Amino acid sequence: MQETNTVVPTVSNLSPESLQALVSVAQVLTSILDGDALLQKVLEIALETVNAETGFIVLTGKEDNELNVRVSHNLATSEVDDPLQPSRRIVSQSLEERKAVLVHDARTDPRFEGSESVVMHQITSAIAVPLILQDDPVGVVYVDSRGDRGKFTDENKDFFNAFTAFATLAYQNAVRFDQLQDEKAYLQTEVEKAYGFTEIVGVHPAMNEVFLLMRKILHSDITVLLQGESGTGKELVARALHYNGPRREKPFVAQFCGNLSETLLESELFGHVRGAFTGAVSDKKGLFEIADGGTFFLDEIADISPTIQSKLLRILQDGIIRRVGGTDSKTVDVRIVSASNKNLETEVEEGRFRDDLYYRLNVISVRMPSLRERRSDIPLLIKHFLAKSSHKQGEIEKKLLPEAMRRLEDYDWPGNVRELENAIERAVVLSGDNPTITADDLILPQDASSGRKTLRDYEKEIVTKTLDELEGNKTRTAEVLGVSLRWLHYRLNEWKKLEQ
Ligand SMILES: Nc1ncnc2c1ncn2[C@@H]1O[C@H](COP(=O)(O)OP(=O)(O)O)[C@@H](O)[C@H]1O
Ligand SMILES: [Mg+2]
Repeated sequence: MQETNTVVPTVSNLSPESLQALVSVAQVLTSILDGDALLQKVLEIALETVNAETGFIVLTGKEDNELNVRVSHNLATSEVDDPLQPSRRIVSQSLEERKAVLVHDARTDPRFEGSESVVMHQITSAIAVPLILQDDPVGVVYVDSRGDRGKFTDENKDFFNAFTAFATLAYQNAVRFDQLQDEKAYLQTEVEKAYGFTEIVGVHPAMNEVFLLMRKILHSDITVLLQGESGTGKELVARALHYNGPRREKPFVAQFCGNLSETLLESELFGHVRGAFTGAVSDKKGLFEIADGGTFFLDEIADISPTIQSKLLRILQDGIIRRVGGTDSKTVDVRIVSASNKNLETEVEEGRFRDDLYYRLNVISVRMPSLRERRSDIPLLIKHFLAKSSHKQGEIEKKLLPEAMRRLEDYDWPGNVRELENAIERAVVLSGDNPTITADDLILPQDASSGRKTLRDYEKEIVTKTLDELEGNKTRTAEVLGVSLRWLHYRLNEWKKLEQ
């Protein structure tokens, strides 16, 4: 085995002082998270170590033999960039050999022969050390000593080797950190866009009231209770409050609390320690810990058990949590937004929900209007969802024929906006290549309850229509409808049998 391209340096030759220096270098380097600042520091340390005054760091580029000067000290740019300079020659040598190159005495070294640098700048010694990352040379640190400064020694070289190994790891760390920061910033803007106020559609006075209240509570930490039927936009509001408020950079965590077993919900919310119950094979962080600093959205809060109710109360009172089976307490700072489609006041009156918890949750209450109460918003919502689904499929936006529009405006909407959104998405698919959506493309479950048609009838209708549009291509039909090919074959057979 050759030892040239390993990143583990030999430190056995180093003096105690050098080892000590190495430890402080490692500490400094791992604390710098900005790539350029880090390289600056690396060069500084390199110069100090060998008492040199001139040096630079180059990084390899995408092209073969491409070298980019990232930082330099006391060197004219022309000198650093000139490939004929001896400095460049030994830089290349260290890259090729993947090891440190030491020129002890430049005046007698053949690599410096006839060089103007030696004459003009009186270079006495030089050293070039490759930065090697996972077997790949990614750059070189170069320093030289000039005038009557001392000559470099073999110990200098050993130190350099060890020190650049740290430097390379620290640099990789900094670059990754930087990438993650960029990525995070990008995702942050994406999420903020997706959960902006503009994504909540409605101009009806009942919605204006919601917006007005939201703006008032946006910048506070106040606990909010969202009440309203299912599909009225409670979660949408919870997210908008988070992503437009001061906690936007911290996590938004949502937990559905309806019909979950008590043990499961408890361990989700508060975490558990290893061995707390059968199956708790390791410690687990609870969602309250994960949401620390951010917002916790507790959905369908009416359904939680008395035990969890009392634990929640404790958090709301003093922010203290304790993992299931654990003894340590921890304080968390979490804004709580909860939601329920049941009337919580009734739940309290009927003894199913603690009144003290209700008062804590209901500091501010926002009531989401049902879609029936704001029918005048239906055309606007349709427009919004048409744009959304054509955007998803990369198509031009479809239009709704007047009869279809009328049908949607007259419909009762038990499932509210969610149901409307689904109906539009379905209609966009069912209308196929037509630029318009007709009343026939709309499938509204109410028709089923009128006794004329069953859900099975609708299933058949959708499948047949899709199959027709896709010219009998079953694989595509299954894909478009989100079912398995097996399911499709099974149904088609079933229907055929019934027809016979
Ligand atoms: N006012 C609205 N504007 C646009 N989309 C909405 C609106 N209200 C609800 N939606 C959409 O309807 C669906 C259900 O909303 P959600 O917030 O989950 O309702 P809830 O939590 O009250 O059940 C989501 O896809 C959401 O984007
Ligand atoms: Mg919901």
